[in-house]
Amino acid sequence: MSCLSKTFKLNNGLTIPTIGLGTYKSEANEVKEAVKYAVEIGYRHIDTAWFYGNEKEIGEALLDIFREGKVKREDLFIVTKLWNNFHDKKNVVPKLKESLSYLKLDYLDLFLVHWPFGFKEDSCPLPTNSNDYSDVDYLETWEGMEDCVRQQLTKSIGLSNFNKEQLDRVLKNCKIKPVINQFEVNPNNSQSEWIKFCKDRDIVVTAFCPLERIGKSREPGYPSATVLDAKVLEIGKKYNKTPAQVVLRYLLSLGITIIPKSVTKSRILENIQIFDFDLSDEDICYLKSLNKNYRVSAMGQYKDHKYYPF
Ligand SMILES: NC(=O)c1ccc[n+]([C@@H]2O[C@H](COP(=O)([O-])OP(=O)(O)OC[C@H]3O[C@@H](n4cnc5c(N)ncnc54)[C@H](OP(=O)(O)O)[C@@H]3O)[C@@H](O)[C@H]2O)c1
Repeated sequence: MSCLSKTFKLNNGLTIPTIGLGTYKSEANEVKEAVKYAVEIGYRHIDTAWFYGNEKEIGEALLDIFREGKVKREDLFIVTKLWNNFHDKKNVVPKLKESLSYLKLDYLDLFLVHWPFGFKEDSCPLPTNSNDYSDVDYLETWEGMEDCVRQQLTKSIGLSNFNKEQLDRVLKNCKIKPVINQFEVNPNNSQSEWIKFCKDRDIVVTAFCPLERIGKSREPGYPSATVLDAKVLEIGKKYNKTPAQVVLRYLLSLGITIIPKSVTKSRILENIQIFDFDLSDEDICYLKSLNKNYRVSAMGQYKDHKYYPF
């Protein structure tokens, strides 16, 4: 039987559930039921973002959940993210307050800077050309994030899609340390050095696109999804598990948190049933060997921005 922990301790003493429900591209008409079902079957961590445009529907789900009374606010770990148009320090607290009002919450568990690069406010949400880039330094943004903690609007703050130099620059200049770095990790992009780099700095990693966004939009040239790999299917058969469960279990073995997205009840359930088996060293070695350093989510159209991370 697996002895995997269901939570990780953060560097501020709080804890984060190792598996959360992702909600990017979860449409308004499906996300409410997905969140309610996920919480009903045991998920305690929900990942969203202002950019996903579904905070209001997630807020409605949370309202229903708390009204029912079986799960309380303090039992859940709710994450949202500051979008790139709002990197000016003066915008950070107001944007968090706006997200809280959509989510119908008094406080957040974790607020992340979604990307290190900013856009001008009036090019919302995505610029058409580089004239719409803003050169606000993410250190200024971070000061706004720290204000969010001081005002008790969020318990923790963190980063997403920052590179090593950017992360170290924040650590060198911050008053409140980031607890999390959220970035892409999956067998096609195993990021082992980067995970170690974060762990060495006492920063927990959250893996997005853990299932390589099966069947959805990808950067050109992206390899086939690992869940379609014949050997991964074989590995799953040994344990009576699906390829997606093998992949998610592998990611947990790296000592990171994961946020697979689904709006399909059977898959939401499947994705959390990964704590009752162990992969052999040989299986883990095979999954490690699949690394190709490909990214599903690179935002490569902004690579000429001075703070583009990759
Ligand atoms: N910080 C960032 O910049 C960033 C970037 C990307 C993502 N994220 C976060 O990370 C979350 C996860 O990443 P993602 O949504 O891009 O990709 P993902 O979780 O790797 O893949 C989601 C896709 O896989 C399908 N799926 C889920 N479980 C499955 C299963 N057991 N078997 C087969 N297919 C399955 C889903 O379909 P159905 O929904 O139709 O079931 C959906 O099409 C996001 O939702 C978001 O919360 C953050």
